[in-house]
Amino acid sequence: MRKLPKFYITTPIYYVNDKPHIGHAYTTIAADVLARWHRLKGDDTFFLTGTDEHGEKAELAAKNAGQSPKEFVDGIVEQYKRMWKALDISYDYFIRTSDQLHENTVSKLIERIYANGDIYKGFYEGWYCIPDETFWTELQLKDGKCPECGREVKLLKEESYFFRLSKYQDRLLKFYDDNPDFLSPRFRSKEIINRVKEGLKDVSITRTTIKWGIPFPLDKSHTLYVWVDALWNYVTALEWPDGEKFRTFWPADVHLIGKEINWFHSVIWPALLFSAGIEAPRKVFAHGWWTHDGKQMRKSFGNTVDPIAIAEKYSLDALRYALLKEMPLGEDGDFSEKTLQVRLNNELVSELGNLLNRTVTIAAGFDGKIEGTPELDSGLDIGSISELMDRLDTHGALDEIFAYIRAANKYVNDKAPWKLKGAELGNVLYNLLEAVRIISILISPFMPGSSKKINLQLGVGPGKLADCAFREFSGKVTKGDYLFKKYETHPAESSKESAPDRSL
Ligand code: MSP
Repeated sequence: MRKLPKFYITTPIYYVNDKPHIGHAYTTIAADVLARWHRLKGDDTFFLTGTDEHGEKAELAAKNAGQSPKEFVDGIVEQYKRMWKALDISYDYFIRTSDQLHENTVSKLIERIYANGDIYKGFYEGWYCIPDETFWTELQLKDGKCPECGREVKLLKEESYFFRLSKYQDRLLKFYDDNPDFLSPRFRSKEIINRVKEGLKDVSITRTTIKWGIPFPLDKSHTLYVWVDALWNYVTALEWPDGEKFRTFWPADVHLIGKEINWFHSVIWPALLFSAGIEAPRKVFAHGWWTHDGKQMRKSFGNTVDPIAIAEKYSLDALRYALLKEMPLGEDGDFSEKTLQVRLNNELVSELGNLLNRTVTIAAGFDGKIEGTPELDSGLDIGSISELMDRLDTHGALDEIFAYIRAANKYVNDKAPWKLKGAELGNVLYNLLEAVRIISILISPFMPGSSKKINLQLGVGPGKLADCAFREFSGKVTKGDYLFKKYETHPAESSKESAPDRSL
């Protein structure tokens, strides 16, 4: 039997010092959309997420909460899992860096790269940003503060083990050259390549002052630097070296990350893999950052957005849609409830919801045969949508899907089915039902809940990408509720208008 193509996608594993916010939700929802898309295509898909639990930040947060690190992180992990459930995230595995298997595997990997001559003992002196768990040199600091986040840094001087990153400079440059899709999106690749060309310094990979970490296998008075511990999650979760999952899914097809952790993923990570003799991933895709109403989103500014509150207020699919529609993957964007409200009303209610409603309303009043000739199939280019999704252009794909939804609404207006009857009406209805069935498949990675609701009204089961072609309509229509509720700025005054456009 021919093996299915495989698709392995990961999110960053999130720090557990704090509650997840919309920035974390964004990465995970985007990865979920891509994973669902590949399942729709029939690819053997594995979607990994998890938590990055060690390090000074978690240690301090636990101390402040009066708990042991393990007790503390267990609590936050539950919050993450609850959030992913509430956001309908279809991950296949949740890795925790405090898992015994992860710790044991990382120890083995460290021994391997040591055996390869890539670890040596030295002395570290530098500046450390605890919130970012990142070392900086004096030169890199901005006004004495962390150049990444602007927060205080602390001077560290200690004995440390180093990874010979410098040894991999040429190999990395050749790798980027040979694999032009690895650094994605393209416009971010220059920055990485230039920095690598400037020269690579060996990196400190152990600490003596932190207890909450994986004991360094070569010297137990040290623990492993949290980033080196964390990056390995992408292979330990697959049970490297002998696991069936590792054999099936490695190398990762996409590591989806935020742009601020691109260096770790695009430079340090492949170098560690080269050293361990493991194939490098196919793509690291660094997406942009959200601001909130124009301001940087940060807990200390008190302006982080809780995705669950938004989902409860507007519906989960409105949130998922708005996040993916607002900001092309890769670019920066601004989250504002106002924009979400406009998208909800103008795109989800008036375009998608309205199309479904018009279609099932016609069906409810029609007792003839639903059959006809495909007329509405010409505005739909599945190949192009598929290509956009394969390029991670979720935004472009949504644009095409919604252009088709608008075309279907126009078809209703043009055909004026309220003036038709008999076979003519059956033909229009056939076209609309097939269009809506296909739209439901196409939107299912983005808005899985709405897709299920549409299928229920059409009386069809969940489809695959291969089902996105006009054929005989085989469902049984039952008119149901509106798909989305219009957002009213002043609900009391305009409650009469709360239903979407019902004109036929
Ligand atoms: N633990 C590391 C990652 C290790 S991966 C081996 C980490 N964790 S984190 O909790 O800080 O999560 C960072 C990720 O959250 C970012 O890379 C990004 O994906 C997401 N975001 C957090 N805030 C964000 C925004 N304001 N906007 C968009 N995404 C952001 O770094």
